[in-house]
Amino acid sequence: MGRTVYVNGRYQPYADATVHAEDRGFQFGDGVYEVIEVRDGALIDPTRHVERLARSLGEIRMPMPMSSAAFGHVLRETVRRNRVHDGTIYLQVTRGAGPRDFLFPAVPYRQTVVCIARPSSRAASDARAAKGIAVKTVADPRWDRCDIKTVMLLPASLAKEDAKAEGAREAWFVDVEGFVTEGASSNAWIVDTSGRLRTRPVDAAILRGVTRTTLIDVIRKFGLDIVEQPFTVAEAKAAREAFVTAATNIVTPVIAIDGVRIGDGMPGELSKRLRAAFHGVAERK
Ligand code: PDD
Repeated sequence: MGRTVYVNGRYQPYADATVHAEDRGFQFGDGVYEVIEVRDGALIDPTRHVERLARSLGEIRMPMPMSSAAFGHVLRETVRRNRVHDGTIYLQVTRGAGPRDFLFPAVPYRQTVVCIARPSSRAASDARAAKGIAVKTVADPRWDRCDIKTVMLLPASLAKEDAKAEGAREAWFVDVEGFVTEGASSNAWIVDTSGRLRTRPVDAAILRGVTRTTLIDVIRKFGLDIVEQPFTVAEAKAAREAFVTAATNIVTPVIAIDGVRIGDGMPGELSKRLRAAFHGVAERK
């Protein structure tokens, strides 16, 4: 059985899995998405991801195209048909296809729903975390509703290209006041000079990362201090530890920011501990 992609109610062979040329996701970025970790064939934190999808849809005035339970079924069936053991599942919903018009259609189009499962190597992710990654800071050029997980990802793509050109794996966006907002596809954290875990509060400048939310559960379980307070680039460079969180990298230590070594230049102890504890707390279904 080859790879299969879910498109609008059908599981199609990968090569045939297409959407219409006038899809509003394609023309206007008029769609939202989720990326969910698959581990041992199970979805990690599916409830929080589907809840966030519903929220993102509501914020751009779109209904859920199917129930949360039906989404759960499609996600699991796509994982099963592709025999993904470890990897990710990508879910995208757009306003559908029709003649190009900035205004929403008077009679709603059928929404486009796509679900793609992809294997990835857990060993490679663990090796990357064991080594730590470098990040590069860039000015945040995005709009003021980054809490909505839209498919308008060009700023993130450009930022990651800039980071890569300097040997960094992730870009950290910085707001006009010099505070780090978040990574191009992750949330940003530090352990500050007082030893407190710090991450930006969930304002409209960042995505409410599901990994971030679950990691706060982990931190509380450990009885550790956490402050949801923005930090500057200078504070990050002086921090004891830094790390990023996302469904695609769980907790991954940051060992350099703009070429400045963080701590002793090795992944921090707390970052490693939080990564190791994460899946013991996250929902697995
Ligand atoms: N991105 N911030 C941004 C801008 C993101 O794109 C992501 C995730 C996160 C972390 O969210 P979560 O913990 O729910 O994965 C924060 C996904 C992984 C992506 O676009 O590939």
